[in-house]
Amino acid sequence: MNYLALENILDKLPIAAIIIDDSERIVVMNSLAMSLFGEDLISRNFITAIRQPLVIDAIQQTLKDGQTRKTLYLHNKSNFRINYEVSCKLFEKQVVLFFEDKSSFETGEQMRSDFIANVSHELKTPLTSILGFIETLSSMTNDDTKTRDRFLSIIQREAQRMDRLVADLLSLSRVEASERMAPIEKLELVDLIRSTTKVLSPIIELNKIEIEYDLKDLEIWVRGDDDQLRQVLINLIENAVKYGGSNKKVKISLSNVYYEALLQAEAVYISIRDLGHGIDPLLLPRLTERFYRIDDHRSRELGGTGLGLAIVKHIMNRHRGRLIIKSRPGEGSEFKIILPH
Ligand SMILES: Nc1ncnc2c1ncn2[C@@H]1O[C@H](COP(=O)(O)OP(=O)(O)OP(=O)(O)O)[C@@H](O)[C@H]1O
Ligand SMILES: [Mg+2]
Repeated sequence: MNYLALENILDKLPIAAIIIDDSERIVVMNSLAMSLFGEDLISRNFITAIRQPLVIDAIQQTLKDGQTRKTLYLHNKSNFRINYEVSCKLFEKQVVLFFEDKSSFETGEQMRSDFIANVSHELKTPLTSILGFIETLSSMTNDDTKTRDRFLSIIQREAQRMDRLVADLLSLSRVEASERMAPIEKLELVDLIRSTTKVLSPIIELNKIEIEYDLKDLEIWVRGDDDQLRQVLINLIENAVKYGGSNKKVKISLSNVYYEALLQAEAVYISIRDLGHGIDPLLLPRLTERFYRIDDHRSRELGGTGLGLAIVKHIMNRHRGRLIIKSRPGEGSEFKIILPH
């Protein structure tokens, strides 16, 4: 058998591969296998290279009975564990081994189970409080209407919190499902910004925020999903108002650039700038994670679920756009969305 030719072919594969002959010697290794196990192993007994019992066992069994087997090989690389699925197949009295990296699949699994744990926790907290107050109410014997009303309003607030959470989760899953299909309908952004701000006027007035517009009296049309872009604006403006501190200004501006390097195309910017506490630069990349809140307690008090920016990110992905966050602690933050024009 021409081992050199085989090695050349195996070198083209994106996974590590090794061939072991019937006297248990390594006869071919591709370069990915060499980076995994080391060089100078050709003609050596495979046990000197692959020291893990599960794999050794699988190779010896396959050499004996010719059956194809799959097993696991764990590789530690500077504090990082990579899990390989190893398949052993017999080919003309030799065993061919392929090492497939399954770590990214496991990271996906891990993220899914973290997500379920987070959702359960977020739902459990208000639910526990609702159940507790219902129990107290049902064991109340006196006619203290004031206390009863207070408990009922707590139950209502907690139930509304659960309702918001479920609505946000549904919205997140809808956005994720639609992400691969870019929107086709056209909409006008100045109108969208003005009408969205109108919807938010109660919370804007409550926080005594002055909105300053820089919309340049243009008409800017983009391809976009009306509901989803409204949702983006609602969350960004609501955040600026909620975390921007009372009695302050929030500036909303819209502009058009002929070339945006990030999209490599003509683009539109919508920027929402506040004068709040700002955000530690180290935390910026975490803001779009699901359920991530910097000040967990304060955000909860304000009714936040921590899903707003995760939804914004997915909506921007669907629009083939970007969300850029800039902030200086003590001076405020800017959330800028970039949309292809
Ligand atoms: N403009 C801002 N200034 C300071 N911190 C902000 C600002 N916008 C967002 N954050 C921080 O980012 C976190 C995540 O924001 P996000 O919008 O995802 O969630 P939320 O506002 O807490 O809840 P939700 O939007 O679901 O009601 C917030 O909890 C807050 O800590
Ligand atoms: Mg928010």
